[in-house]
Amino acid sequence: MKKVLVTGGLGFIGSHTVVELQNEGFEVVIIDNLSNSKIEVLDKITSITGVKPSYFNIDLRDKAAVKDFFANNKVDGTIHFAAYKAVGESVQKPLDYYENNIGSLVYILQELKANSLNNFIFSSSCTVYGQADELPITENAPIKPAESPYGNTKQIGEEIIKDATKISDLKAIALRYFNPIGAHESAKIGELPIGVPQNLIPYVVQTAAGIREELSVFGSDYNTPDGTAVRDYIHVVDIAKAHIVALKRLIENKNKSNFEIFNLGTGQGNSVLEVIKSFEKVTGQKVNYKLVDRREGDVTAAYADTNYANNELGWKTKLSLDEALLSAWKWQKTL
Ligand code: WQD
Repeated sequence: MKKVLVTGGLGFIGSHTVVELQNEGFEVVIIDNLSNSKIEVLDKITSITGVKPSYFNIDLRDKAAVKDFFANNKVDGTIHFAAYKAVGESVQKPLDYYENNIGSLVYILQELKANSLNNFIFSSSCTVYGQADELPITENAPIKPAESPYGNTKQIGEEIIKDATKISDLKAIALRYFNPIGAHESAKIGELPIGVPQNLIPYVVQTAAGIREELSVFGSDYNTPDGTAVRDYIHVVDIAKAHIVALKRLIENKNKSNFEIFNLGTGQGNSVLEVIKSFEKVTGQKVNYKLVDRREGDVTAAYADTNYANNELGWKTKLSLDEALLSAWKWQKTL
């Protein structure tokens, strides 16, 4: 049985990926310092798959702890989710973001090299494209200057990995997520935003649940059909499954180069108002909202060109926006 390390494995995308890895018969080891997740997620994963992953509460900024882990755990692959990911917060605390997101990545890559552990999957983001000149966005779209320290840590992270593949046998794949949403069909795991949600879907479901008074729609004067910004909302389970495909690609040596990049999106763009309408349609719940000014740093539109991921990686999304929104609502009702 192949053994896989999932850092941040108790987080939103991490936990959904652990479930799919276990469904595929992988032995999973989780490292998570619970800075943006809850230990209860471990039992939830176990209740879904019937298998309890190994779990280590390690802070990946602790170089000695990272060294010790890899010396004692010969993993066949590493999927690295663990990072701070709040765009707005990163502007307030850039040094925390660079220390955590970059420092941890370097320590992990150093120990992978020291132990000749060569299969590495990196959680990246479409945020590296900024406002792309052409839509849909391909993997060759130019990288734009980061709009936030968070986005910069993803850009720098990719560069660090690329350089690391040149001085070792490391084989890596960066997966650039568009907008992950939704929750596992069991409604046992899902997005657990701490405090006031920054992202759209958690705010929508909390408004529908009466936890939030009213959703503010950030901007209604964009150059889009209905004036609100357009994004590629992708079900988190589809994102999770892409990680299994990417990991197998490396383990089976099917990668075409030692550093590959794939966009993970549906290829479909939807505006904020379209998302609200879809949510109301599939859930029967009303969402109170008001149109307000644009949010600093937002782009007008971003959605993926999925050809390379579909044809080269051999993965495509199977779940619809409606299914994702309904799953997010089912999950919210359990909270
Ligand atoms: C989506 C749309 C908002 C909240 C960010 C990161 C990206 C990834 C996903 C980490 C935008 C609008 C939102 C609200 C709104 N994060 N909105 N009212 O900004 O596309 O992407 O989160 O990996 O890297 O950049 O996602 O969900 O914040 O916003 O109108 O209360 O919803 O303006 O148009 P975003 P989002």
